[in-house]
Amino acid sequence: MRLKDKVAIVTGSGRGIGRGIALKLAQEGAKVVVADMVEQNGQKVVDEIKQNGGQAVFVQTDISQKPQVEAMFARASSAFGPVDILVNNAGINRDSMLHKMTDEDWAKVIAVNLTGTFYCLRHAAQLMRERGYGRIVNVASMSWLGNFGQTNYAAAKAGVVGMTRTAARELAKKGVTVNAVNPGFIDTEMTRGVPEKAWNAMIDKIWMGRVGDPLDVGKVVAFLASDEAAYVTGQIIDVSGGMVL
Ligand code: NAI
Repeated sequence: MRLKDKVAIVTGSGRGIGRGIALKLAQEGAKVVVADMVEQNGQKVVDEIKQNGGQAVFVQTDISQKPQVEAMFARASSAFGPVDILVNNAGINRDSMLHKMTDEDWAKVIAVNLTGTFYCLRHAAQLMRERGYGRIVNVASMSWLGNFGQTNYAAAKAGVVGMTRTAARELAKKGVTVNAVNPGFIDTEMTRGVPEKAWNAMIDKIWMGRVGDPLDVGKVVAFLASDEAAYVTGQIIDVSGGMVL
């Protein structure tokens, strides 16, 4: 119970990696705000947490809409008190090769993965620096290094890495740590659409030889969110089964 009574917001936690993170944080004792656009999924995660004896509340949120981000933080503190932990996990992809990428696919990915993350990060920074405590974990991606067909996504995730390292500097003396994780290839709805040939090619790149599980990411996030990681900030940690070694 490393996170006993801590209040955590996990964006995009209605399914996939976010769900894995929310379940893990709840298992460690955190009161979890499950923030997602899709109510049905988010509510299911809340029910799962409660069935396991944890505390959780669903808040319907589109992180690319600033007023909704503000409402999410307000709802979190009215439900559970001041927010201790923010996990910026919500993200989307709209892949295509650069010469075919539409303005819409560029703008949408930037709006959610970069601007939405910024809205959440800024709001948390304002609250946490005042309180003198906070743990922020951003979910970036190995794709920040560049990935075929992902100009929009890689640009956004590289931006998330830049924001993480900048926010870490600004908040270091305020008791707030800011770190990021780079999931590699994790078994979620996002990756299940990948054709078999491409799937196998991805597995070939992973030294551990297997796809990741959302809980593999959740466990690292729980560590970074805990006081065991009190002296860790500005770090970008690959959770990829050794994709780049
Ligand atoms: P997913 O598509 O399975 O789940 C994403 C969740 O975020 C969904 O519940 C969706 O409703 C929610 N969401 C989407 N847009 C939102 C918005 N504007 N506001 C609030 N919620 C929103 O995706 P997955 O695989 O779980 O990915 C989670 C994060 O991990 C993303 O940031 C993704 O970029 C990142 N990631 C995933 C990898 C993978 O292999 N699955 C690899 C590297 C990074």
